[in-house]
Amino acid sequence: MSPRSEPLRLGVLASGRGSNLQSIIDAIEAGRLPARLAVVVSDREQAPALGRAARHGAPALSVSPKDHGDRAAYDRALRQTLHAHGVELVCLAGFLRILGPELIRPLAGRVMNIHPSLLPAFPGLDAQRQALDWGVRVTGATVHFVDEGVDTGPIIVQEAVAVLAGDTAETLSERILAVEHRLYPRAIRLYAEERLRIVGRRVHIDPAEARPPA
Ligand code: GRF
Repeated sequence: MSPRSEPLRLGVLASGRGSNLQSIIDAIEAGRLPARLAVVVSDREQAPALGRAARHGAPALSVSPKDHGDRAAYDRALRQTLHAHGVELVCLAGFLRILGPELIRPLAGRVMNIHPSLLPAFPGLDAQRQALDWGVRVTGATVHFVDEGVDTGPIIVQEAVAVLAGDTAETLSERILAVEHRLYPRAIRLYAEERLRIVGRRVHIDPAEARPPA
C-alpha cells in the first residue's frame, strides 16, 4: 500500500466549545497529522468551534436544522456541504445531533466519533455522570467509526482513565478530555496512514513496520 501523496481532507462536525477540534488543529499545525481541515460545520451559529476553525484559516460554516424540514433533509444538506468541500473523512467532535442513514450510509467507514467512556459502557449523553452514578473504578475515552446506532460502531482506539475518590462530573470530564485530545489525532492519523481495516465489529490496525518505505 503506497502512502498518500496529499494530506487527508477532514470535515469536522462540532456543536460546542471544540476542544477536540483544537487538538486536531494543533496536531496538523505541529506536523503530527498528515491532514488538512477541509471544512468545519456546526449546527449552531454561535459555536466556539467555528471560531477555532476560522483562526486556523479553515472554512467554517453553520448549517442550521431550522433551515431544513426534517432530519433526512438536514442530513442531506450536511452531506452536500461535506461533499462540496471534498471531505474524505468526517470527524464528529461534540456534535450533538444523531446522524441518520442519509448521511451515514453513503459515508460508511468514513465517519468517526469520540466518546468520553469506554464503550460499550455509558453511550449517549453525560457519559461521565453515568460512570460516576454507576460507581465504576475505571472509565475512559473511545474513538469509533459511526454506524446508524448511538455510539455503537466499530472501536478504533480506547484509553482508560481511573475514577478517583471525590471526583465530580467536572473533574472526571477534565481528565478524560486530556486523554481525548491525544486519542483523536492518533486515530485520525492511523486512518490517514491507511492502517485501519474494519472487519465485522473489529477494527484491525496494520503495524507501521509492515508498510513499505516511502
Ligand atoms: C467531548 O467530551 C467528546 O468526547 C464528546 O463531546 C465533548 C466535546 O467536547 N463527544 P469539545 O467540544 O470537543 O470540547
